[in-house]
Order: sequence, then C-alpha cells, then structure tokens
Amino acid sequence: MKDKVTILAIESSCDETAAAVVVNGREVLSNVISSQIDVHEKFGGVVPEVASRKHIEGISAVVQKALDEAKIKLEDVDAVGVTYGPGLVGALLVGLQYAKGLAYSLNVPLIGVNHIEGHICANFIEHKNLEPPFVCLVVSGGHTFIVYMKDYGEFEVISKTRDDAAGEAFDKVARAIGLGYPGGPKIDKISKEGNEDAIIFPRAKMDDKNSLDFSFSGVKSAVLNYLNKMNMKNEEINKADVAASFQKAVVGVLVDNAIKACEMKKVNKIAIAGGVAANSCLRETMERECKKHNIDVLFPPMVLCTDNAAMIGSAAYYEYQAGREAAIDINAIPNLKLGER
Ligand code: KG4
Ligand code: ZN
Repeated sequence: MKDKVTILAIESSCDETAAAVVVNGREVLSNVISSQIDVHEKFGGVVPEVASRKHIEGISAVVQKALDEAKIKLEDVDAVGVTYGPGLVGALLVGLQYAKGLAYSLNVPLIGVNHIEGHICANFIEHKNLEPPFVCLVVSGGHTFIVYMKDYGEFEVISKTRDDAAGEAFDKVARAIGLGYPGGPKIDKISKEGNEDAIIFPRAKMDDKNSLDFSFSGVKSAVLNYLNKMNMKNEEINKADVAASFQKAVVGVLVDNAIKACEMKKVNKIAIAGGVAANSCLRETMERECKKHNIDVLFPPMVLCTDNAAMIGSAAYYEYQAGREAAIDINAIPNLKLGER
C-alpha cells in the first residue's frame, strides 16, 4: 500500500456540484462546491431535471478548479471517488459517469461512495484523531439516522425516521411560514429573535418505548394546523416564535435519542453529520446535554456539514484501503442503504 494516497472526489447527488482533492482521507487540498441554490430557490425546492442539467454544465470546471487549487495534475491522482447513491438518479449519473471516464482514462481505481457514509466521514477531516467505534447522528435534507460506526466501512443503523427527514421538516415549515428555500438556515437565523417556549409543539412518541426512531411529520402538521388556526382567527403570526418553538421540538428529540443511543452502545463519543448539523440550536443543546452525560460531541465545520466532495474523498480513502474498487459498470442507486455494498 502507498503511504500517500491522493483521491479526487466528486459529488453530485442533489443540488451541489462538488469536487475535492483529499490525501489519506483526512487532509483536504481543495474543496470546491458550486451550489445551485439560486436556480432552485424560485421553484421552492430542488427540481431534479434542472439539477442534472446544471451538474452537466458545471462539472468540468468544478473538477478543474479542485485540481488547480490543490496544485496537482490529473497524473497525481491515485484514485477517483464518487457518490453513487442515495440521491436524485439523474444528478448522481452526471458525477458517476464523469468519474468513470476519468478513472478509466487515468487507469486508476474508481471508488463508489455512499453519500451518507460521506457525511459521517466529514468528521474524520476535522477531528484528526477520531477513530471508530462511535455513534453518529446523521441529519440531512433526505435522511435522519442514528448510526453506530463499528469500524471503517462498517455501519449499524440504530434508528431512523419513519416519515420526514429532519432537514425536510425544516424546509417544509420554513416554506409554510414564508421563509423560502432552503429553510433550515432561515429557521435557524430567525429563531434567534423568537421565544422557543411560545408554542408547545408535540414531540413524537414511538409506540415501542425502546425504539429510538424519529417521526417529524407530526410536528410539521402541528405547525401547519397552528398557522391555519391563527389565519382563521385573523391573528398575527409571530414567525420567529413559530420557528424557534418548532426548532426546539425537533432538536429536543434528536438530542435525547442520540444520548440514549450512546448509552445503549456504551460509547462516550458522538459525531454529528449532515446539513442539519449546521444548526446552531442543535450544536448548543448537544454540547450542553452531552457534557452532563460525559459524552464527547464532535461536529464537522459548517462547510463540511452540507453537501461537499471532501467528505466523499475521506470515505473513498477507507474504501480504497479495504480494496473495494468499483466495477466500470457501477450504476447510480437512488435509494442506496447505509452499509450496503
Ligand atoms: O446534507 P445536506 O446538505 O443535503 C442532503 O444530503 O440532504 O442537507 C441539506 C439540509 C436541508 O434540508 C437544509 O435545510 C438543512 O440541511 N440545513 C439546516 C441548516 N443548514 C442546512 N437545517 C437546520 N439548520 C441549519 N443551520
Ligand atoms: Zn447530503
């Protein structure tokens, strides 16, 4: 095995076209992200076909920029890592096909990466001494999981959402109160001016008391009902109070279940991952509660919370080390499961 492995990583699973150069899974030489948010904003959410077209337009320039910023040439690349699921199929295919072409022409291994595993591995970039096992709370726009990472490449799902993902709930509530897309950062911001105890929104309870699963559709419906009632009564809605109260309900259950998962697995280390990990209330509450339970909580920096290719480069390195090279006919898998190979 080489002692310096340089991976060019590509990510195009949703609305960010991204490429990065990562050495040995932890050292980021470049991390280029071209966001399509402006394009999708006017539609109030990601339009899959528009996303694919934008990836096609942008991918060559994004990859070139990643090489330039890393000050390397294509000949210096030891492997190409790429997200092949989960995500929007048309969007995934753009990055996957580009990566295949590159790996084939350079005659280097192609490494297929699960996007969610990438989010988890973002923590390895920031926390250089972090090693599995640990518990990870994955909270993104499409997924909400508590995962036990036993070893590199070995993931056990402890719990998941039974309906909406946490980020999806943030986006839907933001739309309902007229904040626009993407909703998470907007709810986070406006909540700072609101009273989180103004309205009591319900926290989902599972029938099975031992289950650490989540459900966010109930709290989302409760917000929508509240808004309808206020509108019918012609009463003024305080958006900041609604946002802060909703955020408190979601964050509360995320933090409680994450701590219970650590106790269940007898680990005192929890990493947070995914776009919602950028949420300031989640960060503060997690830090405060974990301190009480003697659990170390780790967050990636903001830029590595939301979609990026550096995290894909990190995950690809551990797949490369395990000798898991993708075949040239690898296809995009929109509903790829965590830990599935
Ligand atoms: O991980 P990500 O970039 O994409 C997916 O893989 O889904 O996550 C995007 C999600 C969106 O739902 C967005 O609203 C949410 O992360 N998000 C936030 C914050 N920043 C991004 N949610 C709450 N607070 C934030 N500060
Ligand atoms: Zn993501």
